Amino acid sequence: MQARSIGDVRVGAIGLGGMPMSIEGRPDEERSVATIHAALDAGVTLIDTADAYHLTAIDVGHNETLIARAVAGYGGDTSEVLIATKGGHLRPGDGSWTQNGSPEYLKRACDASLKRLGVEAIGLYQFHRPDPTVPYADSVGAIRDLLDAGKIRYAGISNANPEQIRLANEILGGRLVSVQNQFSPAFRSSEPELELCAELGIAFLPWSPLGGISNAGRLGSRFAAFQQVAQDHGVSPQQVCLAWMLAKAPVVIPIPGSSRPETIRDSVASAELELSADEFSRLDAA
Ligand SMILES: NC(=O)c1ccc[n+]([C@@H]2O[C@H](COP(=O)([O-])OP(=O)(O)OC[C@H]3O[C@@H](n4cnc5c(N)ncnc54)[C@H](OP(=O)(O)O)[C@@H]3O)[C@@H](O)[C@H]2O)c1
Repeated sequence: MQARSIGDVRVGAIGLGGMPMSIEGRPDEERSVATIHAALDAGVTLIDTADAYHLTAIDVGHNETLIARAVAGYGGDTSEVLIATKGGHLRPGDGSWTQNGSPEYLKRACDASLKRLGVEAIGLYQFHRPDPTVPYADSVGAIRDLLDAGKIRYAGISNANPEQIRLANEILGGRLVSVQNQFSPAFRSSEPELELCAELGIAFLPWSPLGGISNAGRLGSRFAAFQQVAQDHGVSPQQVCLAWMLAKAPVVIPIPGSSRPETIRDSVASAELELSADEFSRLDAA
């Protein structure tokens, strides 16, 4: 698979999003492990997770534990695999998502993620979402402290606007390596953040790139241009969607979620799908 950069690490251009394997509707562990192993077989070296990808209050970190176990149990070389996790969101167990961006909490959350992932330093640690009750600079200051303490190798943010991206990069002393925002054919309002990341050379990780767990399968029926280009190439509209994102800028690294080996294999194939300039313009305008 073609490679892209996160900081000075090269990763496969398509990552794996872990969320569908740990929240509502998650499959059994055997299928999840098969999915993660299929991703590794296909050359995926970026796996995105979060401490908040779990169902009930007693299985916090379900996705981190699952991914750590699956990677450890893989037969091949995993030395190049970058596991990217996040802190700052919580799930009390009633289906809701709450937030805590206080520096004390983020440092505790990072320690817990370190234990679950079984590493001395987390590959990429992302502040999950700005907490309106905590100054953004304080939350990002905690991420800087974690970086300085060597508890995380790389620092990222998520759900940030251009002003927050610039502020975070300043607080981190130019060491912000990634921004993870929602971006898909149905949700394009992160274009300014994508463009800013391209300008600054910061990786941009589109989340829910296919429209989210419940909409991903309907991408072709919702967006005729994606269906048409897919038919012309004899591939899935989801593959076309990911190829379109990759073509937008060299900093883009989509992280499609998967809970089945077939879907991550199909997504990885998008890294080899070449779109003509005309196809790209039609998709961009769709
Ligand atoms: N930072 C944030 O706030 C935030 C928020 C949401 C998500 N995320 C991250 O972003 C990742 C991706 O987002 P998402 O999982 O919400 O949505 P998504 O990637 O848009 O959609 C996921 C669904 O797409 C299906 N799929 C994947 N590849 C496919 C293909 N080639 N053909 C057909 N269907 C395909 C999967 O089905 P199967 O399950 O059947 O395999 C999966 O359930 C998450 O897993 C998570 O890591 C971050």
